[in-house]
Amino acid sequence: RGAHDLAGRRIVVSAGGTREPLDPVRFLGNRSSGKQGVAIAEAAAARGAEVTLVAANLEVAEPGGCRIRHVSSALELRDAVREAAVGADAVVMAAAVADYRPAAVSEAKIKKVDGQDHLTLELVRNPDILAELGASDHDGTLLVGFAAETEADRDRLLELARAKRRAKGADLLVVNRVGWSQGFAADENTVAVVGPDDAIVAEASGSKMSVAHGILDVIAGRLAPGAA
Ligand code: C5P
Repeated sequence: RGAHDLAGRRIVVSAGGTREPLDPVRFLGNRSSGKQGVAIAEAAAARGAEVTLVAANLEVAEPGGCRIRHVSSALELRDAVREAAVGADAVVMAAAVADYRPAAVSEAKIKKVDGQDHLTLELVRNPDILAELGASDHDGTLLVGFAAETEADRDRLLELARAKRRAKGADLLVVNRVGWSQGFAADENTVAVVGPDDAIVAEASGSKMSVAHGILDVIAGRLAPGAA
């Protein structure tokens, strides 16, 4: 890993977890801390890339050396990623994006009703941002997706990753088993990277920063010739 092997490259990283508003004070969220995505952004900047971090509700400090776009919901993240992705060399979708959002956002705080013991929320599907990019004309932009799965069996986990990479039209898919020894808020991570021919192109384990460099090694080796 050359010190500045990403010099002249533009890399977009999404990180964190989206919050889908319900009313002015409530949201549906997830447990993503943003640690792995932030580590990738920081490591890419250290390797010379011009990094745009699309940050959704990070629970970790923001990295230095990156341009940061703050977003909260999946729809906001989509707008920011799409804009930043134009002309980018790579888009790394490390954010945990909500699959569904409340169908309606109440303008007033939703009140409890005496005698009403059940409340049903209607949700609608969010757009799949990575799949949209994968289906769009993205020549020259390497698309990297993530999968956090609870599947314990390694072979089945890798099959899920391969299927997900294909379904989303991503070039690389980074899979980690949440709850292995790891998880969203943990400092360590273990991942495998699945490539276009379904092969495992890299495996990395250790601090989220060392895993970030392992993922960037794969990305650096697959960027279209040019810059750098
Ligand atoms: O389908 P699943 O949520 O497991 O896919 C995870 C990958 O897809 C991640 O890279 C995530 O950032 C991305 N994703 C997305 N838009 C969604 C859901 C997930 O871009 N609505």
